Amino acid sequence: RIAYVNGLYVPHAEAGVHIEDRGFQFADGVYEVCEILNGHLVDETRHIDRLLRSLGELRMAMPMSRAALGVVMREVVRRNRVRDGVVYVQVTRGVARRDFLFPAGVAPTLVVTARSADRAKTEKTAETGISVITLPENRWERVDIKTVGLLPNCLAKEAAKAAGAREAWFVDRDGFITEGGSSNAWIVSATGLLITRPAEFGILRGITRTVTLEVARRLNLTVEERPFSREEAYAAVEAFGTSASLGVMPVVRIDGRVVGDGKPGRAARALRTEFHKVAE
Ligand code: PDD
Repeated sequence: RIAYVNGLYVPHAEAGVHIEDRGFQFADGVYEVCEILNGHLVDETRHIDRLLRSLGELRMAMPMSRAALGVVMREVVRRNRVRDGVVYVQVTRGVARRDFLFPAGVAPTLVVTARSADRAKTEKTAETGISVITLPENRWERVDIKTVGLLPNCLAKEAAKAAGAREAWFVDRDGFITEGGSSNAWIVSATGLLITRPAEFGILRGITRTVTLEVARRLNLTVEERPFSREEAYAAVEAFGTSASLGVMPVVRIDGRVVGDGKPGRAARALRTEFHKVAE
């Protein structure tokens, strides 16, 4: 495997950054995960747009032009011969003597990797659906920035695993679901409404979420962008999550309670199929 690190394509096993990189010391960095389908980057423009936004929010410099970044991403995919999988892009503020204040005149660190995913396995998972648990929201307020500070997400997903579930959905202080540890959360109400939290507060504006909204409207599904509570989720006829790595993923259990008839719902299945048609 080959990784891109600051201008060089290097063997993955030997790739490294300095111990005083601020990504390492302060999680002072941002990232993107972009799906690769049939060798193509899915929603490349949107991912680069979001990366630029994250960088801007943290007053970090973009290490290269967006066109150049696109070239590097595609080159890493090509060199690793990835047909289906993900490409990972990470930008950290750079290497400096440890100090909370931002260093001046430091070049950002850019790392790009790619890896294959077992698409058949993901499809199989989508056919049965996944279980989620809910946990109190304990992340900072700027989850709209895709930072590498993901320890709460790791802890939540570990707790999910320990409970036999695949994902954890965070619940805010008012009892509303925010999003998953690495996905956005959706439900379908008994009245047939597709409900997902507005991206303005408390969640990452997922690219898969944005595209799924477009697909839903095309399929004439009625969408309501509004917060939904854990109780509404328990009473939902369908639930699902969206992310670049899993696409539209049906949820069949929430905190051990069966959602709908316990099988992936009609809307989720239709959206998954249609989403991948758009992606390909
Ligand atoms: N996670 N919310 C959170 C907290 C996420 O980490 C992600 C993505 C999403 C979905 O966003 P998108 O549709 O753009 O992938 C929502 C990626 C896949 C990850 O960290 O691996």
